[in-house]
Parts: sequence; C-alpha cells; structure tokens
Amino acid sequence: MKYRVLGRTGLRVSVVGVGTWQFGGEWGKTFDQDEVNAMFAAARDCGINLIDTAECYGDHLSEALIGAAIEGQRDQWVLCSKFGHHFHGPFNRTEPRSPQDLVTQTEASLRALRTDHLDLQQYHSWGDDRFFDDDVLATLQKLQQQGKVRHIGNSVSSNTNVKQVAASDQRGLQTIQIIYNRLDRAPETTTLPICQQQNLGVLARVPLASGYLSGKYQVGARFDQGDVRSRQEAAQRDQRIAQAQQIIAAEATPGVPVAQWALAWCLQHPAVTCVIPGCKDVAQVRGNAAAADLDLVRDDHPQAR
Ligand SMILES: NC(=O)c1ccc[n+]([C@@H]2O[C@H](COP(=O)([O-])OP(=O)(O)OC[C@H]3O[C@@H](n4cnc5c(N)ncnc54)[C@H](OP(=O)(O)O)[C@@H]3O)[C@@H](O)[C@H]2O)c1
Repeated sequence: MKYRVLGRTGLRVSVVGVGTWQFGGEWGKTFDQDEVNAMFAAARDCGINLIDTAECYGDHLSEALIGAAIEGQRDQWVLCSKFGHHFHGPFNRTEPRSPQDLVTQTEASLRALRTDHLDLQQYHSWGDDRFFDDDVLATLQKLQQQGKVRHIGNSVSSNTNVKQVAASDQRGLQTIQIIYNRLDRAPETTTLPICQQQNLGVLARVPLASGYLSGKYQVGARFDQGDVRSRQEAAQRDQRIAQAQQIIAAEATPGVPVAQWALAWCLQHPAVTCVIPGCKDVAQVRGNAAAADLDLVRDDHPQAR
C-alpha cells in the first residue's frame, strides 16, 4: 500500500480506501456481518485504512456493519461519513437538513459505527441553496469542538461545482469528495485545480465508473431491479459501457486487471489523494488494494508520505 496526506486534515490515508454504499442494499446484494468482517480483515491486511460510508447507505446500516467489523480497532481506521439524507427504503430518501437534523444524524452515525468520533464528516451532495446555510456550518463546528467530528468535508453532487469547492477554505472545509474517473475528467479543468490551490484532500469517488471500468461489462448488460445501475436508461448505460470498452482497449496496461489500472489512473492526478471504490467481496477489496502497487501511482506524488 502507498499513503498520502489528506490535504489540510494532516491525516495519513491509504491511496485506496473502501467505499461502502454497497452495504446499504442498493447494488443487487445484501451483506451479512461475517462477510463484511472478512472484507475489512482483508482491507487491513492490504494496508487500507480509509473507509467511506454515509448515513443513508441503508438507514445507518452500512455504518452498523462497519462498526461491528472494526470494533476494537478504532485507532487503525480513518472513518469518513456524511449527513443530509434519510433512507426510508431502497431508492427512497428524504433530505433532513436543519442544524438539529445534523446533530441527530451524526449521533446516530457514531452509535452505528460504535465510536465517539468521526475522522471526517461530509456534506452529502447538498444543493447550493442549503449548502451555504451558516447555522448548519456553526453546528458542524460545534460538533468539532465537542470532539465528535475531527474534520469537515464536502462530497459535492456535481463534479464541476466550482462555487462550493471554491468556498471550502473560507468555510473551514478540508476535503472534497468528487466523481472522478477515466470516463469523467471534467474536474481536471474545473474543481481539481481549486483543490490544489487550497490544499484540500480529495477523495475520488465512483473511480470505476460504477464498475464499467472493470472491463467485465459488455454493451447490452442488464442489472437486477435492486441494483442502482438498473435505474439508468438502457441506451445511456450502453453508451457508457461502449465508451469504457474503447478506452480500455486503447489505454489499459496490458497484463494488469482492468479495475486496478482504472484506479491507478485516477491516482496519477496531483490533486487526488485517494480512490474509494465500492466493494462487494473480499476479492474486490484485495484486487483494488493492489492498484497501489502499479507504477502509475508514483512515489513523488505531491501528497505522498
Ligand atoms: N454522493 C456521494 O457522496 C456518493 C455517491 C456515490 C458514491 N459514493 C461513495 O463512493 C464509493 C464508490 O462509488 P460507487 O460504488 O458508486 O462506484 P464505483 O466504485 O465506481 O463502482 C463500484 C462497483 O464496481 C464493481 N467493482 C468494484 N471493485 C471491482 C473489482 N476489483 N473488479 C471488478 N469490479 C469491481 C462492483 O460492482 P459489481 O461487481 O456488481 O460490478 C462495485 O459495486 C461508494 O461506495 C460510496 O462510498 C458517494
């Protein structure tokens, strides 16, 4: 594993983390505790120390599975969660966003994760209208003073939201979580330069383009109803898969599992601290961790430590 500093948080994080939306049951699979325990044992064995979760991956379900899996090892993990949604059932959420909602959700996250603090608490895809609410920010800062939240970040909805990313410094936010992968390079000319200017830690999410950059899907692939990918319009999905296949054929490193190449590709960018691929089993955790060994992940990256 290789490690980088997560911008101004000063946290030393593995370049590959574990994304855990999958545990909430919206990716065509339910998880039992033994399986999740095995995934985090494997992650730890590979040197992974960063976990990205959220309040609405199930109703704090992903957090509860993680909390049980890593109990007794709290100091070995960097736990990142989010706030601003309430999960009522698969693909059915509301957006409670008052200061009191923030406190209630953070307390519920701490209980589920079996911890007294989050290393990173992130705005979860807020629109500009609510994001700039000073009362919410003041409440976050109070949670910070109480030690319940160590650092504050923003998981932006649109990866070109220059307005929110540029406001990070002034609002005391230290990290950005953003969609970035070989199929979606829009942040390179919009938001990533701002992250560099402000020394923000960057978590690249959806780094495998929802799995299409793993190379295993062909045009015409169909997904079960309980898998979020079934909700994409079929023609649009096919177009994305076709685009991914073309890129893989032209650019992927021969002899290397395609998913590993795709993750290492993201980690080349000087602004990107880590990737957080969503994982569904031990083999994916181990395979993704191995991306850190590729030459594309350079030792002279500006955040390397
Ligand atoms: N608004 C937000 O804040 C937000 C939004 C989206 C995601 N996120 C975070 O970012 C994480 C990553 O995004 P994502 O899960 O949407 O997309 P992703 O990481 O691009 O794709 C995840 C999917 O890729 C497949 N996969 C993973 N590793 C693989 C491997 N080694 N080989 C082959 N296939 C592999 C798995 O699905 P199959 O095996 O079924 O193909 C997995 O479900 C999430 O888990 C979540 O933590 C945050």
